[in-house]
Amino acid sequence: MAEQQSYKLPDKLPGHVGIIMDGNGRWAKNKGLPRTAGHKAGVDAAREIVRFSGDIGLEHLTLYAFSTENWRRPPKEINFLMRLMKRLLRDEVEDLIKNNVKLRVIGNFKNMGKDMVDEINRAIDLTKNVTGLNLNLALSYGGRDEIIMAVNKIIEQVKKGEHPEINEESFKHYLFTEGLPDPDLIIRTSGEMRVSNFLIYQGAYAEYYVTDIFWPNFSPEEFVKALNEYAHRTRRFGKV
Ligand code: IPE
Ligand code: IPE
Ligand code: MG
Repeated sequence: MAEQQSYKLPDKLPGHVGIIMDGNGRWAKNKGLPRTAGHKAGVDAAREIVRFSGDIGLEHLTLYAFSTENWRRPPKEINFLMRLMKRLLRDEVEDLIKNNVKLRVIGNFKNMGKDMVDEINRAIDLTKNVTGLNLNLALSYGGRDEIIMAVNKIIEQVKKGEHPEINEESFKHYLFTEGLPDPDLIIRTSGEMRVSNFLIYQGAYAEYYVTDIFWPNFSPEEFVKALNEYAHRTRRFGKV
């Protein structure tokens, strides 16, 4: 709670913030360190942002940690990231509960090892009765993959003789984010002006905020800057 007083928060907070946590590799490279050091530093930044989000009363936070396309990285980096995330899920769950953070993991688990999936399910189960910040970790997540999986779920229902009515709202029930509001604000670090397959259905009307700062340097102070800019945006949703 301590540092929140030194920042000027806007009166109006977004209900759901998504963050594309990009730039770990470049952060490390700038320091002459291996990319893995960047990922470790990225975890520290994520931990701080999660804690801060809870402190300021944010309802939903979705962190993009690993994309379906990231499976195309060198096996060594993938293994490192998977081990890092497994350890994280195991070691941080007590703190999540203490900080009143409820975990959900969105993504396609089919490329993950069973031990990873077990770790995920265990962490989700342990935080299931928590009532504070809803933290969604996008792991092995891709928006296109999510939509294709949704379509296949519908096909399965139809094959069984069911006739679900599909419209823009009902389609959301087939996505990993079922039950969550659409993101209001999507932040991307490290200056890249692209979506990289993050929440492409849900983020159709999200406000975007890009900062040049590399993810390991993203701080609560930077987060507050984004929240303040969001508060000044005019959202029209196609209306006048
Ligand atoms: C983001 O940092 C973390 C993941 C995608 C896992 P990067 O690893 O993409 O870092 P850059 O973009 O190469 O700097
Ligand atoms: C997006 O970052 C994915 C995550 C932050 C997890 P990337 O580094 O994978 O995106 P591209 O390749 O620059 O588009
Ligand atoms: Mg990147």
